Amino acid sequence: MPFDKVIQSISSLREEISGEFDVLLKEMSARFGMKPDPDEIFRPLPEPQGLSISLMQALEARRSERSFSNEPLSDQDLSNILFAADGINRKNGRRTTPSALDWQDTEIYVLKANGIWRWVPERRGLIFCAREDIRGRTCYAQPTVARAPVQLVYVSNRSKTRSTFTDLAEKVFTKISRDVWTEEKIDEMRVRATHINAGAKIEAVYLAAAAMDMACVSRTGFPTDELERLLHLTEDETIVACQSLGYRPKSILDHIR
Ligand SMILES: Cc1cc2nc3c(=O)[nH]c(=O)nc-3n(C[C@H](O)[C@H](O)[C@H](O)COP(=O)(O)O)c2cc1C
Repeated sequence: MPFDKVIQSISSLREEISGEFDVLLKEMSARFGMKPDPDEIFRPLPEPQGLSISLMQALEARRSERSFSNEPLSDQDLSNILFAADGINRKNGRRTTPSALDWQDTEIYVLKANGIWRWVPERRGLIFCAREDIRGRTCYAQPTVARAPVQLVYVSNRSKTRSTFTDLAEKVFTKISRDVWTEEKIDEMRVRATHINAGAKIEAVYLAAAAMDMACVSRTGFPTDELERLLHLTEDETIVACQSLGYRPKSILDHIR
């Protein structure tokens, strides 16, 4: 399907789910104790734009880098990154990255100097959650990484891994093969899948960053409990990983130290 047709279909899908968006908006405002200001609460991002680099070139350029410029990311570049991680690329709402049973359980928080934001793929934009700059809480002893202009936080929402279909499948499997399909085994499989789901996003972001000549590093070392508390996560939600992004320093003056 041509790219403009995909964008059109996504617009109509967005209309269909506007009710869900209002619920999410209220939920985020309640969690972070924000009074929603209609002009500030949601920031739409521009349409993602095609990158003129081949996949092979992006694969060759992909690497972890821990040195960033202090320049904030443009909305266009952030949109491209989030499209790679969790963009809607089909009429039926499916994403640029795969997930087990299409759970779409990974939620992405975007931490910037100006606050905490939550990515909403159906609206291609960010809900403003809080003014706090908590980027520094995404690292242990890596100050230059901690101050990267953008930190993505990948949160797996366990409630999204349950559906009538999975509940039924689990019941059937545990009944017909009790020894193999114990509840513990099923739980282990669920956790493994949610980690892989986040991992797929991490690699897509690495490749998009390489294609846009940006520095990027993914991380699992951070004060989990503190970050979960700062993001007001529920018991069903756990942080799987963080990923730092920014431009490469152009001179010693814009180099984060
Ligand atoms: C699951 C995972 C966790 C990681 N955690 C950290 C981390 O906490 N801090 C860090 O600086 N790099 C972290 N990295 C980046 C790795 O150190 C890096 O991918 C590795 O050294 C290979 O380098 P490359 O990505 O340039 O190929 C992590 C990577 C992965 C996949």
